[in-house]
Amino acid sequence: MQAIIQDLKSAVAKSNATNIRAAFAADPDRFERFSASFDDLLMDYSKTAVNDEILLLLERLAEVGGVVKKREEMFSGSPINFTEGRAVLHTALRNRSNTPVLVDGTDVMPDVNAVISAMGVFADGIRSGALRGATGKQITDVVNIGIGGSDLGPVMATLALAPYHDGPRAHFVSNVDGAHVADTLRLLDAETTLFIIASKTFTTIETMTNAASARAFIAEKLGETAVRHHFAAVSTALDKVAAFGIESDRIFGFWDWVGGRYSIWSAIGLPLMIAIGPENFGKFLDGAHAMDRHFRTAPARQNLPMLLGLIGFYHRNVLGYPSRAILPYDQRLLRFPAYLQQLDMESNGKGVTVDGKPVEGNSGPVVWGEPGTNGQHAFYQLIHQGTSIIPAEFMIAANGFEPHLRHQHELLIANCLAQSEALMKGRTFAEAKDQLTSKGMDEKQADFIAPHRVFTGNRPSITFVYDRLTPFALGRLIALYEHRVFVEGVLFRINSFDQWGVELGKELATGLLPVVQGKKSAEGHDSSTQGLVAALLAERA
Ligand code: F6P
Repeated sequence: MQAIIQDLKSAVAKSNATNIRAAFAADPDRFERFSASFDDLLMDYSKTAVNDEILLLLERLAEVGGVVKKREEMFSGSPINFTEGRAVLHTALRNRSNTPVLVDGTDVMPDVNAVISAMGVFADGIRSGALRGATGKQITDVVNIGIGGSDLGPVMATLALAPYHDGPRAHFVSNVDGAHVADTLRLLDAETTLFIIASKTFTTIETMTNAASARAFIAEKLGETAVRHHFAAVSTALDKVAAFGIESDRIFGFWDWVGGRYSIWSAIGLPLMIAIGPENFGKFLDGAHAMDRHFRTAPARQNLPMLLGLIGFYHRNVLGYPSRAILPYDQRLLRFPAYLQQLDMESNGKGVTVDGKPVEGNSGPVVWGEPGTNGQHAFYQLIHQGTSIIPAEFMIAANGFEPHLRHQHELLIANCLAQSEALMKGRTFAEAKDQLTSKGMDEKQADFIAPHRVFTGNRPSITFVYDRLTPFALGRLIALYEHRVFVEGVLFRINSFDQWGVELGKELATGLLPVVQGKKSAEGHDSSTQGLVAALLAERA
């Protein structure tokens, strides 16, 4: 692989590939040649520093790196998460073709289908009012209590699919900061509120603490016997959920072969299903399944996740770009960058290869972003003129859901396209100076000011265009990014499916709690931690 990476570096230097502006000037068909579609989803990667030679080398890298082999291992249930001895089968959760998927020789599809049906019955019951609170009132508000993968998927998708939201209001509590649960409960009526405790392990301290606060809220307002009517749970640890006092017909299971950050397709999607209804939730799964089939079967040059992953690897390990910006021109994708942060950074933020050796080169980039056009008025300055090159990934729907605000959607589209054009084209010194002198500025002053108005251009971006943000389109988009992370992870030669890096902080927090409570001395901790503990304890009321 290192030899191909060297060949890629030589190909970039030889062809001056990073001069994207020149590549457009030289080739009127560049868009045709460097864009690909899957149904109504178009991926335009012509504004990245690729050419045919580079793409061929990247395809070769995928072959040598074993992407196709690993892809089959994932889809067929091999334990590719070898550090935890688990299969990686979020694709089975949306396997709408219902073909058998074997884990240790047993088809998981009957269990998957049974949970989806049970979720549907429960969601319909809450939505219709057949299932009510302890005092007989209809549920008007659902609060999901979870964190990480047990929060980000439901919160992101519920917001994204707001036009389909015809069920009870949805709220999400994740942070252990009591402000989060307190600010949420303040708005709610216990009689009409349902809590969903979502935790794969049912041990996560943030979730268990917030769940206890929610339980106390119900017990205090409605009595202990009301708890069973106001709680449901989603977990793989069914015994622990039962111990919390949740009735078995309100417990929805999933399996250890579903990673937290890949769990929106499982019962973790219950708050989304209650919000948009089982039928729309089914379409969300359909969209992801369509992308799975595309990823599994399309040739590399037409395969969107493969292209996205290969270009992502190229940006990181050939061109050395340290981060990528996710810039949806779709306000309802507000939490999509945060969702992708977990998906990408918890998966590919690793320093050790599958052989236990240090990663050669780089692993995953920093992922960040905000919806446009808000980002334009905040951090785009740096993307256009800063000293780091930050590949941008734009996404825009051809149609919004507000026909009476057609003009606003046109403005949104124009802004999105303008940004990728500006990043690629830039503005030369001569162009900047011309602009100033044509407005009447004298030559000397124009020479002085023009450098500040120069845009280097040649800044890469990928743009996704889709018809509109339906449940199907959202499912497809998320699955596209999941598979991109997979492709990059294989090429980084890491295990994308564990997350040992979050453990150390958790362990130390457990040890520090009695210290912060003043029950134990801070001795043995470093002087900074001791100093901080002392300062906080001195200020504690
Ligand atoms: O932050 C680590 C992590 O394990 C994530 O991977 C996971 O999504 C999150 O914590 C929540 O875990 P659980 O669903 O078990 O509460």
